[in-house]
Amino acid sequence: MGTIIDGKALSLSLKEEMKERIINLENEYGRKPRLAVIIVGDNPASRSYVRGKINAASFVGMDSVLVELPEDVEERKLLETIDNLNRDENTDGILVQLPLPRHIDEEKVIDSICIEKDVDGFHPGNVAKLWLGRKCIIPCTPKGIIKMIESTGIEISGKKAVVVGRSNIVGKPVAKLLLDRNATVTIAHSRTRDLAQTCREADILVAAVGKPNMIGADMIKPGAVVIDVGINRIPTIREDGTEGSRLVGDVDFDSAAGIASFITPVPGGVGPMTITMLMENTIECFLSRQ
Ligand code: GUN
Repeated sequence: MGTIIDGKALSLSLKEEMKERIINLENEYGRKPRLAVIIVGDNPASRSYVRGKINAASFVGMDSVLVELPEDVEERKLLETIDNLNRDENTDGILVQLPLPRHIDEEKVIDSICIEKDVDGFHPGNVAKLWLGRKCIIPCTPKGIIKMIESTGIEISGKKAVVVGRSNIVGKPVAKLLLDRNATVTIAHSRTRDLAQTCREADILVAAVGKPNMIGADMIKPGAVVIDVGINRIPTIREDGTEGSRLVGDVDFDSAAGIASFITPVPGGVGPMTITMLMENTIECFLSRQ
């Protein structure tokens, strides 16, 4: 049985350190870092993620503001809200929860966030800097994944890493971060010809596809480090016959745990680390603005 990389515990210890740091920052600069989170509409998954972000800010003692806009809000109004936060001296980080309703141009919204306050690291200016190897804000999930791999003590340099999924939020940036640490990186996706064989070659396997239990033990090299980014809600039937649901990852944890050397669980793996890295990015934005 592989060792579980406990994202919840790692997050907690990082957040405890941040508590201290924020007290010191307030003493030094006369105010705390402040995060603004904007949510449009009432998608239950987005609401739950946003709640987690606001709770984490309060846990570490950071200031936060939640801006809730209705599903049918005009794009102009959202851009105006962002503009006001861009100009607000006391706001250090701005996050617009994605996805946005179809009538809103997501790219326009991301581009409108001031690059120094882009705590998600999604602005094209930050993405360009990441790929150029310049100092930038690193997207939260990829940053958390690297911290989790590093927590195992295994060396990334020289290893073969396979990232399954090519999203702008996870797949592409995590591949770049692994490359920066001298891994030999393959980005696999839905059109990859022999996905199972490609995955079996990975010393480090990052699954970020959004398909429940898609990666089974037969796709994992014995001793690999397996990072499961998937958060999939699947329906279940409770003992009393009523319908419920539970969260599963992209990796079939029960079979994969027997073959991996280290593996992240879902829930309690990458998810908590993403939120913790958001706190870290907000502190970085605060410092860069002093
Ligand atoms: N929706 C899903 N993941 C994310 C994320 O990391 N940031 C934002 N803003 N929205 C998301």
